[in-house]
Amino acid sequence: MSKPKVLLTRKWPAEAEAKAQELFDVTLNEDDHKMSVDELKAAIQNYDAVCPTVSDFPIDADIFGSDDRKCKIVSNFGVGFNNINTDAAKEVGVVVTNTPEVLTDCTADIAMGLLITVSRRIGEGERLVRSKEWDGWCPTHFLATKVTGKKLGFIGFGRIAQAVATKAHFGFGMEISFFDPYPPSDEVIKKFSATKLDSVEDVLKDADFVTLHCPGGGSNTNLMNAERFALMKDSAFLINTARGDVVDEPALVQALKDGAIAGAGLDVFAKEPNVSEDLLSMDNVVLLPHLGSATTETRVAMGLRSLANVEAFFKGEEPGDRVA
Ligand code: DGY
Repeated sequence: MSKPKVLLTRKWPAEAEAKAQELFDVTLNEDDHKMSVDELKAAIQNYDAVCPTVSDFPIDADIFGSDDRKCKIVSNFGVGFNNINTDAAKEVGVVVTNTPEVLTDCTADIAMGLLITVSRRIGEGERLVRSKEWDGWCPTHFLATKVTGKKLGFIGFGRIAQAVATKAHFGFGMEISFFDPYPPSDEVIKKFSATKLDSVEDVLKDADFVTLHCPGGGSNTNLMNAERFALMKDSAFLINTARGDVVDEPALVQALKDGAIAGAGLDVFAKEPNVSEDLLSMDNVVLLPHLGSATTETRVAMGLRSLANVEAFFKGEEPGDRVA
């Protein structure tokens, strides 16, 4: 029996590409270019499986196209799948999978990294040393905000959020509160001595740090808007490792300019890779190029997980990470 034809839309770590070559008749993206809409359409027409990622946006009804498509499964390299219109996939009977769990800790590490970097002014301090303008220690230099023991509020309390809570609560003695329309078990809540709140607003009012862990797109688009920034403490920081569109970027810029919040640590942006000039010019923000899952270990594991979903599908099994 011939092997399924599989396309990886971007370059993957060598170990994961090698596994793909072992399992399938695979086409790699050797020069790692971002595929055009036409290339993605052709991929859906001509491959049994397509493995896209967050930069292939949006894979929608137009791309799923006509009935003569060959593609039966879109196996996303990534846990977030707002780059794929799952309703459109369902409509044409294409299975969609993602890669949960394997990136949980690394993404949580980046959330903690942003939280500490922005509140302790690490980016600013590093820039000062590099500029050779540092003129030595003094008791009032670069005073920042203490992290240990502060209140950390979560919007969304799923896997990645709980990994952040583990580091923050047990490592930094932080008090945990959260809002999630699908809250975890009482056992999980008890483990963190967490406070379950009834609304996003309740989290915002009381937290010293607010960290976003909800899916992007749909009703979460611009969830953090001007009204909600106004509810945050003016000493509080916003951390976003979820999706850029969860934050109304102009409203965030205004909140930072007005001093309505103290700062922000952002790994994701509404229109990646474009970042607003206002944010680029501010010292009280830390800006990362979507690094949440960017460790060798995790990116290999994501590739292998995506391939495992394709393999299961073509063996006639239910892929472990089916989302549509
Ligand atoms: C994901 O998996 O959703 C990340 O944002 C990409 O690493």
